[in-house]
Amino acid sequence: MAETAPPRPATPDAPAPGGHAAAIASPGGHAAAIDSPTGHAAAMDRMYRYTRHIYDITRKPYLLGRDRMIAELDVPPGGTVLELGCGTGRNLVAVARRYPDCRLFGVDISAEMLRTARATIDAAGLTHRITLAPGDATEFDAASAFGVARFDRVYFSYAVSMIPDWVAALAEADRLTAPGGRLAVVDFGDAAHLGALPRRLLHGWLALFHVTPRVDLAPRLTALAAGRPVRHRALHRGYAQLGTIG
Ligand SMILES: C[S@@+](CC[C@H](N)C(=O)[O-])C[C@H]1O[C@@H](n2cnc3c(N)ncnc32)[C@H](O)[C@@H]1O
Repeated sequence: MAETAPPRPATPDAPAPGGHAAAIASPGGHAAAIDSPTGHAAAMDRMYRYTRHIYDITRKPYLLGRDRMIAELDVPPGGTVLELGCGTGRNLVAVARRYPDCRLFGVDISAEMLRTARATIDAAGLTHRITLAPGDATEFDAASAFGVARFDRVYFSYAVSMIPDWVAALAEADRLTAPGGRLAVVDFGDAAHLGALPRRLLHGWLALFHVTPRVDLAPRLTALAAGRPVRHRALHRGYAQLGTIG
């Protein structure tokens, strides 16, 4: 079961642990380097300011494997679930419906995305079960933001390919996973069995949107697991990949 800490209410409007909410709101943040945390937050806000309104409908055909990852989360009764890089909240709503007695928490570096997530969750009638907070997945103080220090299930869905220091984010997610819990990652894969040209076109197209498939996800998970069970599968001829620890 998850460890708990004294609760502190968190909303998308609350200051982010590590001060990233200020960076999101600050006009000066836009001038920061894209690979600095503040520059990255500003870049995500720019990317999603308008597209968040059509995000779910346009991404449905090509963010493959998300529902499979959710189906395999196997959340224990009364468990806690954290999504890092939760975007519009689409997955949180799906997890909440599939596992009706869990409590859910979502973090995103983009205040714009969190605005849509809040609306999506409210419209789904799940406000009482899903809590959101702004934050950076590479360094997130969950105990301060949510009053929960570690979670039974932690997952990334098409987020590690957009996080510059994704290896740090993986380590942080592992730190946030309760003992005996599970960390899951679904994202673009190496496209190894799609053919050379489709692969080059796909990865070139993704690069235009700051998306880098993490082709060494499997060895990174294995290194992090330090003996715990790791499962990694290529989905759809390597278009996507799904990896878990625990
Ligand atoms: C491609 S979207 C995926 C959204 C959602 N997980 C899904 O499956 O639909 C990637 C999300 O990761 C967020 N993100 C990127 N870098 C982040 C970071 N360092 N910390 C937290 N969220 C981040 C973006 O703002 C965006 O909402």
